[in-house]
Amino acid sequence: MTDPAPFSLPPDAPCGEDAAREQPAFGPRHVAIIMDGNGRWAQQRGRPRLFGHQEGARRAAEVVEACPALGVRYLTVFAFSTENWKRTQAEVAGLMTLFRRYISKEARRLVEHGVRVRFIGDRDRLEPKLVQVMDDLEALTEDNATLHFTVALNYGGRDEVTRATRRLAREVAAGRIAPDAVDAETLARFLDTHTLPDPDLVIRTSGEARISNFLLWQSAYAEYEFVDTLWPDFTADHFERIVGEYGTRERRFGAVRG
Ligand code: IPE
Ligand code: IPE
Ligand code: MG
Repeated sequence: MTDPAPFSLPPDAPCGEDAAREQPAFGPRHVAIIMDGNGRWAQQRGRPRLFGHQEGARRAAEVVEACPALGVRYLTVFAFSTENWKRTQAEVAGLMTLFRRYISKEARRLVEHGVRVRFIGDRDRLEPKLVQVMDDLEALTEDNATLHFTVALNYGGRDEVTRATRRLAREVAAGRIAPDAVDAETLARFLDTHTLPDPDLVIRTSGEARISNFLLWQSAYAEYEFVDTLWPDFTADHFERIVGEYGTRERRFGAVRG
């Protein structure tokens, strides 16, 4: 991935605890989703796994559209992990084609809905044709602000922190940052997510209760919701219910209830 310019955190995007405290008490400002279960959904129907991925892409579009009415300003979805290259060549190739077609096809609708799209993850291993449509969509939507929609593609939390550390180390080696000046805030500015607040709520579908290398640094104080529904069965109604229930949770950030 090309290096994002460090220190470009906009004033309206505070990180971590500060971001969580600034959000309205009733709902999550930033929801992140591990969209899991496409393969099992297809297999249950005797269809190829790619059929499940196609159906899953439709659900993602529906959740995007549901966000503004629920007060969700930031939505981040896990589309392909740095570990997903271990799948068959056919599944990986099918997914890459699906991403490219989906991004090209959805572009107009996303623009019309005022959605700003960003991609996080390492672009170096992605096909140039795919990277091109990703860059184009980011540029096309950069003035939108109704919803900040971020797609994690070839993303891994450890990989992201490693790449960020490498860039930070270069700055230190060049004498532009003093070693003793490095704190958590400094590192966060080198992450792919440097323009986003931390997620308040992370949802994983399909019944697996693990985070599979998603937003490791950013989710330090996120609330988690693990649901059994397979992603292609996950509707805007499911999403609305989970977002609504979030308001009943008490977040403490390590402090004692005030
Ligand atoms: C999630 O669904 C989508 C991707 C990882 C690309 P899966 O493909 O992991 O579906 P299951 O977990 O095998 O059912
Ligand atoms: C996580 O799901 C990645 C995405 C949803 C893109 P996986 O299906 O790859 O995770 P594991 O292998 O079950 O941990
Ligand atoms: Mg899975």
